[in-house]
Amino acid sequence: MGRRAARLSAPTGLARLAKKIAARRARIGVIGLGYVGLPLAVEFAKEGFSVTGIDLDPARVRGVNAARSYILDVPSEDLRRLRAARRLRATASFNVLGAQDAVIICVPTPLRKTREPDMSYILSATKEIARHIRKGQLIVLESTTYPGTTDEVILPALEARGLTVGRDFCLAFSPERIDPGNATYMTRTIPKVIGGITPQCTKLATVLYGCAIHRTVPVSSSKVAEMVKLLENTFRAVNIGLVNEIALICDRLGIDVWEVIDAAKTKPFGFMPFYPGPGIGGHCIPSDPMYLAWKVRVHGFEARFIELATQINGAMPEHVVEKIGGVLNARRKALKGARVLLLGLAYKKDVGDLRDSPAFDVARLLEQRGAVVDYHDPFVPSTELNGRRRSSSPLTPATLRRSDCAVVLTNHSKVDYTLVLRWAPAVVDTRNQYQGTRSKKIVKL
Ligand SMILES: NC(=O)c1ccc[n+]([C@@H]2O[C@H](COP(=O)([O-])OP(=O)(O)OC[C@H]3O[C@@H](n4cnc5c(N)ncnc54)[C@H](O)[C@@H]3O)[C@@H](O)[C@H]2O)c1
Repeated sequence: MGRRAARLSAPTGLARLAKKIAARRARIGVIGLGYVGLPLAVEFAKEGFSVTGIDLDPARVRGVNAARSYILDVPSEDLRRLRAARRLRATASFNVLGAQDAVIICVPTPLRKTREPDMSYILSATKEIARHIRKGQLIVLESTTYPGTTDEVILPALEARGLTVGRDFCLAFSPERIDPGNATYMTRTIPKVIGGITPQCTKLATVLYGCAIHRTVPVSSSKVAEMVKLLENTFRAVNIGLVNEIALICDRLGIDVWEVIDAAKTKPFGFMPFYPGPGIGGHCIPSDPMYLAWKVRVHGFEARFIELATQINGAMPEHVVEKIGGVLNARRKALKGARVLLLGLAYKKDVGDLRDSPAFDVARLLEQRGAVVDYHDPFVPSTELNGRRRSSSPLTPATLRRSDCAVVLTNHSKVDYTLVLRWAPAVVDTRNQYQGTRSKKIVKL
């Protein structure tokens, strides 16, 4: 690390910053303390850096300062230790930005209702950085976005302050690849791709991340780094779309798609298993490919794989509702008036993240057809569902018996599926939770 810093032939201010980083004396600001920003802030603070998190949400600021974690992968105990060592603090004020040596942006990048990128969070964070930027700072964008954001949107805003990139300050893009809830690969152990505006920027950002992340992967530009992230998530979205289509095909042909995938994955090369489900959710997989599709549309190119995958994945909730209708029909019941218990509202296993969860589409379609929807999710005690506040129903024999059908949408580990099968009159299983269980009550996706 020390050698890396020494090799950095930078103009004085930036060379000084490289040395400060190597000595862990650099101050790091992280804008946005969510699923991405908080774990990152914690890793740098654990390395001995003085880290300041900036978030507009006062509850998150209070949470960090009181050492109360709101992110599953960050134990409150870590926050407590780092707070006690005065290495981590949070604030809602951007006035601290001028005092930081490195500033990392981790704000949301959702879609607008029109399915176009909502850049407002990046723009407002950039505006604040531009107000406080000074010579010798390193700025890094981590939020997932379309190729060109760092050099076409952020760079001009920062250089408008009269500073020159690569000489007075450095600017880079480094995509976050965290997988919340994944106990094997975490912030520190997921290789970090880094692309700067100039080679100098890439080197400085690599020095910084090299302190807290096991492996850094420098690439030739910020655009390449932005595209890397979109390739990864488009790859997932398209492959999930493909396997969802295979699931629909298998359904028509009366073949168990899960058995097919299990056998196919024994091939030691050229195949990688993806699994069907009730649709895709979360902040990343449904949205990120749309950032790419939007950007190339501006260049007159239609991203056909992305559009097709979006269409297939988006139709899966409808397919689930059809399955539920079929199950009820077999029991001489109509969807109208039937009581359906949804198991798992969060978009993925063992997390409470509800963003863009397909469970909401399933619930909406069911209620549009007159069904009465209840849910059980140990990670979601209460939530707004179809415009009404609801609470998670306790998973008891009485609740299950009262339902006409239980539907496994997300198979959290904490749920007692044996109890579900015993008491629910019928079960639609969209996750293959009941693999190997023989029961006439179970209908798979
Ligand atoms: N969640 C994931 O699994 C994941 C994985 C990889 C990449 N990403 C990307 O990382 C970025 C952040 O995602 P996230 O899941 O951490 O979002 P998040 O919603 O959990 O956290 C974002 C935080 O930023 C704060 N914020 C919003 N605007 C702000 C501003 N102008 N100034 C200061 N704070 C502001 C919000 O209050 C929130 O606490 C997104 O671009 C996302 O696509 C997310």
